[in-house]
Amino acid sequence: MKRALVLGGGGFIGSHLVKRLKGEGFWVRAADLKKPRYAETAADDFHVADLRDYGSVERVFEGGFDEVYQLAADMGGAGFVFTGENDADIMHNSAQINLNVLEVSRRIPVGRIFYSSSACMYPEYNQLDPDNPNCTEGSAYPAAPDSEYGWEKLFSERLYFAYARNHGLTVRVARYHNIFGPEGSWDDGREKAPAALSRKIAMAPEGGEIEMWGDGRQTRSFLFVDECIEGTLRLMRSDFAGPVNIGSDEMVSINQFADMIMQIAGRTLTVRHIDGPTGVRGRNSDNALILERLGWAPSRPLAEGLAVTYRWIESQVKLGCSDSAPDA
Ligand code: NAD
Ligand code: GDD
Repeated sequence: MKRALVLGGGGFIGSHLVKRLKGEGFWVRAADLKKPRYAETAADDFHVADLRDYGSVERVFEGGFDEVYQLAADMGGAGFVFTGENDADIMHNSAQINLNVLEVSRRIPVGRIFYSSSACMYPEYNQLDPDNPNCTEGSAYPAAPDSEYGWEKLFSERLYFAYARNHGLTVRVARYHNIFGPEGSWDDGREKAPAALSRKIAMAPEGGEIEMWGDGRQTRSFLFVDECIEGTLRLMRSDFAGPVNIGSDEMVSINQFADMIMQIAGRTLTVRHIDGPTGVRGRNSDNALILERLGWAPSRPLAEGLAVTYRWIESQVKLGCSDSAPDA
């Protein structure tokens, strides 16, 4: 039986990936600081472990693996990564995990290792025009990410390729573009726009208003988690090392995005624009390279995944309301 290891397997993408690998017949070990919050893990073996600790990483790798997916990171949405308040933790924690994982990977046999980088590593100067951002893989240099989170991702991408070059590891690197779906953060300060706006729309009083950071003319694309995992597995098992974008190229403004969610929710609310961390002015996945190298690119319309996600968040909101309702 093939063996897979999912680091960050208690997190959003990691827990979905574990389910998918189990469905494919893998024996799966997951490791994370915490178990998944919203569902039982599907992993055969779950290590609650701090991957900043080298000894813990060694234990997690015991037995060797055909496929290792490195998703563990200190991360979140704009409210977590773009305020500046978490910069030292983000850089230290995520870099430490990646340094440990690579050092252990060259001592314990692993087949292939996947690293989840981010669109946040692209230079800010190519993302100033909301209608025309440039996120082609070749546009990474001269490097100028707009956040320390992006700099750490860029450093770690390079680290993975350096270990491939010098120590013979087989690595695959993807740059994820804003992944969303059920069972992701929606209320803990790390939530991204899809979950945050869905929560605000689900919770607003009838005919009320929601707050949105910035003027709403900033643009993004959002990729449903199932397609993120499909792309990840296709890359892992291909002969292309990357780095390659895994994202949607259906770009929307955040105003349009909120309108889409309101339509799904069947609610008409007023949007109040407030100051907040906004990140780059425009971002969209460029999918030419993934299509060329993997013969595949995400294609599911944004509205489909958004409807599934909104319904899940709405159910969480209702659950929260009933949890906190006083005893009658
Ligand atoms: P997530 O926060 O849900 O999952 C990351 C997991 O890493 C968490 O469960 C966390 O507990 C774990 N972790 C953090 N520090 C750890 C430590 N010291 N030891 C063990 N586990 C630790 O995030 P996600 O959305 O599932 O993202 C997965 C990966 O994809 C991350 O590397 C992230 O940077 C990258 N990524 C995600 C997106 C996105 O939109 N979700 C976009 C770009 C890149
Ligand atoms: N989170 C959030 N919450 N964002 C909001 C809100 C809100 O209430 N209102 C408006 N926004 C705006 C943000 O200001 C930002 O301009 C845009 O919606 C998208 O925000 P996020 O989804 O939080 O993050 P991002 O797209 O800027 O960056 C995310 O994606 C990267 C990959 O593409 C982050 O999660 C990064 O960590 C990730 O690497």
